[in-house]
Amino acid sequence: MAEALRVGIAGLGTVGASVARVLRDKAAELTRQCGREVVVSAVSARDPKRDRGVDLGAAKWFDDPVAMAQTAEIDVFVELIGGDEGPSHSSVKAALEAGRHVVTANKALLAKHGVALAETAEKKGVLLNYEAAVAGGIPVIKTMREAMAGNSVTRVFGILNGTCNYILTRMEAEGLSFDDCLKDAQRLGYAEADPTFDIEGHDTAHKLSILTSLAFGTRIAANDIYMEGISNISQADIRAAGDLGYRIKLLGVAQRTESGIEQRVHPTMVPTASVIAQVHGVTNAVAIETDILGELLLSGPGAGGNATASAVVGDIADIAKSRPGFQHAPVFGLPAKELRPYKKAQMRSHAGGYFIRLTVHDRIGVFAAIAKRMADNDISLESIVQHAAGPDTALQKTVILVTHETTEAAVRKAVDGITKDDHLTDKPQVIRIERAE
Ligand SMILES: NC(=O)c1ccc[n+]([C@@H]2O[C@H](COP(=O)([O-])OP(=O)(O)OC[C@H]3O[C@@H](n4cnc5c(N)ncnc54)[C@H](OP(=O)(O)O)[C@@H]3O)[C@@H](O)[C@H]2O)c1
Repeated sequence: MAEALRVGIAGLGTVGASVARVLRDKAAELTRQCGREVVVSAVSARDPKRDRGVDLGAAKWFDDPVAMAQTAEIDVFVELIGGDEGPSHSSVKAALEAGRHVVTANKALLAKHGVALAETAEKKGVLLNYEAAVAGGIPVIKTMREAMAGNSVTRVFGILNGTCNYILTRMEAEGLSFDDCLKDAQRLGYAEADPTFDIEGHDTAHKLSILTSLAFGTRIAANDIYMEGISNISQADIRAAGDLGYRIKLLGVAQRTESGIEQRVHPTMVPTASVIAQVHGVTNAVAIETDILGELLLSGPGAGGNATASAVVGDIADIAKSRPGFQHAPVFGLPAKELRPYKKAQMRSHAGGYFIRLTVHDRIGVFAAIAKRMADNDISLESIVQHAAGPDTALQKTVILVTHETTEAAVRKAVDGITKDDHLTDKPQVIRIERAE
């Protein structure tokens, strides 16, 4: 039997401790599957005294993850610290430069430094695996990188943040406010004490930037992503969406268009009957549309110790099974130097249907004025109705518009015009409608 694969784990929190536990509990099975033993030979975290709830056996402790990354006592460096700079970046870089394979679950790190790290991995002839970085336990990286040769991707989109999906699911199912659902998510451990990163879309954007690179063979450009979070979604939106046959989801969408590649993260209305609309709670889902395959939807657990550990252990096992001379798929599907610069489609040119909710003064002529602003901007309306979605009174009413396909620029201009006309009593709400099967 080949020599044991020696693994060093940096970070022993939710994911790191779970990985150590799975490697120990499933040691015999992994040995059979990989044809060699996989042993945890080194670990690093901040607090050496903390009980991790797992027997780390004879693993050597390192205070400094960079020193662990460089030691000759490991073959694989597993980064589960988190963050796009500091110890996670310096240790992953050091490990690759020292010729160690790397496994990471860190989307923030890859969104920022992924291409440079891929270049180093290629130069050193080592693997950089990151299945857990996008949609936790769902094997979407492997699917896109290894199982879709010859396919041209036209669009990839998904529910990539369990916290947001949990909040939106409960808002719809129980009629609760955004704030109440967020508090519950925090109490149950689904949301951080500072939830900004999740609910404002940053986490989804990091994951989307990686999917975009795999889908279109482009260099990662996370800073270009158009981003809106879910904090201004109200019960009025959820109810109106339901009445119109839609459900609201926070989606990350990357799409090839005539003017370039669109990358956007925002609340989206998807048809209630579509498959992605059935993805509830903390579950994640990724839909990939290609010219040959059509639409593929993968869904499953996107976070949590065990689900994430499943993806990390799968990555470690791939390294254990690899044999010298065997050519592996490049980190982002193509050799790093062949990843094309990214041509960004401006959000203004985004084409699609729109839901617009307006709270207006209850007076004669308002409907006509709204319809005129739409017509002036060449927006064709599927419907315009007075709706009981909002807090209607004798003085104000809710008007819901659904447009046929139009552009973001036209909708912004029309809504600006309606705002200037002084008919609104509250901020207008605009939610994009996404085509989904
Ligand atoms: N949690 C999930 O469900 C999930 C899902 C997918 C991906 N991920 C990704 O997985 C990574 C880890 O997440 P997590 O939830 O496991 O985080 P976590 O529970 O906060 O654990 C972080 C670990 O890093 C250690 N650490 C922090 N600074 C360090 C340093 N300077 N040197 C060495 N160790 C250091 C901490 O040590 P101490 O314990 O001693 O403080 C802790 O063990 C992140 O990149 C995250 O985005 C997480």
